[in-house]
Amino acid sequence: MTSNRPKGRRIILRHHPEHNLQPSDFALEAQEAPAPDQNKFLVRNLFISVEPMLRLFIDAAPLGGLMPPMPLGTTIPGPAVGEVIESNHADYAIGDLVEGRFGWQDYAVSDGAGVHRINKALGAPENALSIGGLPGFTAYVGLQAAGGVKPGQTFLVSGAAGAVGSVAGPLINARGGRAVGIVSGEDKKRRLVEQAGYAAAADRTAPDFLEQLKAALPNGADVYFDNVGGPMLAAMLPFLARGALVLISGLMAQYQGPSQAGPDHLPAVLHAVMGKGIRIQSFTQFGQDALRPAFEQEIAALLAIGAIKPALHIEDGLERLPAAMCGLFTKTVAGKVIVRTRNAN
Ligand SMILES: NC(=O)c1ccc[n+]([C@@H]2O[C@H](COP(=O)([O-])OP(=O)(O)OC[C@H]3O[C@@H](n4cnc5c(N)ncnc54)[C@H](OP(=O)(O)O)[C@@H]3O)[C@@H](O)[C@H]2O)c1
Repeated sequence: MTSNRPKGRRIILRHHPEHNLQPSDFALEAQEAPAPDQNKFLVRNLFISVEPMLRLFIDAAPLGGLMPPMPLGTTIPGPAVGEVIESNHADYAIGDLVEGRFGWQDYAVSDGAGVHRINKALGAPENALSIGGLPGFTAYVGLQAAGGVKPGQTFLVSGAAGAVGSVAGPLINARGGRAVGIVSGEDKKRRLVEQAGYAAAADRTAPDFLEQLKAALPNGADVYFDNVGGPMLAAMLPFLARGALVLISGLMAQYQGPSQAGPDHLPAVLHAVMGKGIRIQSFTQFGQDALRPAFEQEIAALLAIGAIKPALHIEDGLERLPAAMCGLFTKTVAGKVIVRTRNAN
C-alpha cells in the first residue's frame, strides 16, 4: 500500500571525517514525513543553518574523545527555520513559523523543546539563524561571560566577518566598547568597518597583517574574543593588554584536526599567560536560554536603528548542505551561511 505522507529528503552521516571534511562524508536519502504523535507537530524546513561546530560533533573522537562519536546514519542535527504543517500540540498551530534543532531534512517532528517562535521584531524569518539566533546569541552570551562591555574597552575579535563576529562587533560598539576585527581579504575588511560596527580591522592574509594590528591596537586589546584558536591565538598574545581576557568562543582552525592547528603553541601561550597576567576562559551558549529575551530585545533595538545589519550568504537546495559545510573551512564568506530548501517560497 502506498502512503500519502509528504515525501522529502534528509542528509545523514556516512563517514566520520578524518582531517578535511568531504561532501562524501554525508549521504542524501529519501524521506517520508513522519506523522506527529499527541503533543507533537510536524515542521517543513525552509532555511537550514550551516554550523561550523558540527565538524567537531561528527568527528570520530569529538573533543579528543571527551564525547561519544555520533552514530553513522544519524540525520545531521542543527538549527533550522520552518513552518508548522501538521499539529497535535496545543501550543503550535498550522502556519506557525518556528526555529529549532530540526536538522538537515525537509521534515521534522518536534515536541516544542528548544523551539523558538519567529520574532518579527528581528526582521526576516531567516534572521532567526543569524543575528537573532544561535550565532547572535553566542556573541551576546560571550560578552556576558566577559563581564559585559565597559566603555572604552577594546575587544579584538577573530573570524570577525563570520556569523558570530558580525553580531559581536555591533554589540560591542553599541555598548561603548571599541571592536577590532580579524578577517581574510580587503573586501571583508572594508565591509567590517563600513557596515558592521567595527572601529578597525586587519586582513590576516596581508603581508603587513601584524603592522595593521599594531596600528589598530595602540594600547593592546582588553579582551580577545577568539572564534578560531590554533596558531592565531598564539600570534595575538603580543597584542593583548596586561591582564587581558582571552574568551574562547570556538576553534575554527582546529576542528579539522592537528594538521590545521600547526605546531604546539602551548609554551608560548603559557609564557604570555604568566608574563602578562592573561586569563583564558571558554563559554557556551548552551543552557543560557534565560538570557534569550534580553538578547532578542537588544538585537531588535539595534536592527530598528540600523546599528546592526543581517549579513547572510544563502545557497539554494537541501543537497547543497554538505558542500556548504565543507566551504566554511576552505572559502570563508562574509556573514552567516544558510541553505534555503526548495520548499521555500
Ligand atoms: N561557544 C558557543 O556556544 C558557540 C556557538 C556557536 C558557534 N561557536 C563557534 O564560534 C565560532 C564562529 O562561528 P561562526 O558561526 O561565526 O562561523 P563562520 O560564520 O564560519 O565564521 C568563522 C570565521 O572564522 C574564520 N576562519 C575560518 N577558518 C579559519 C582559520 N583556519 N584560521 C583563522 N580564521 C579562520 C573565517 O573568517 P576569515 O576567513 O574572514 O578570517 C570565518 O569567516 C566557531 O568556532 C564556532 O564553532 C561557538
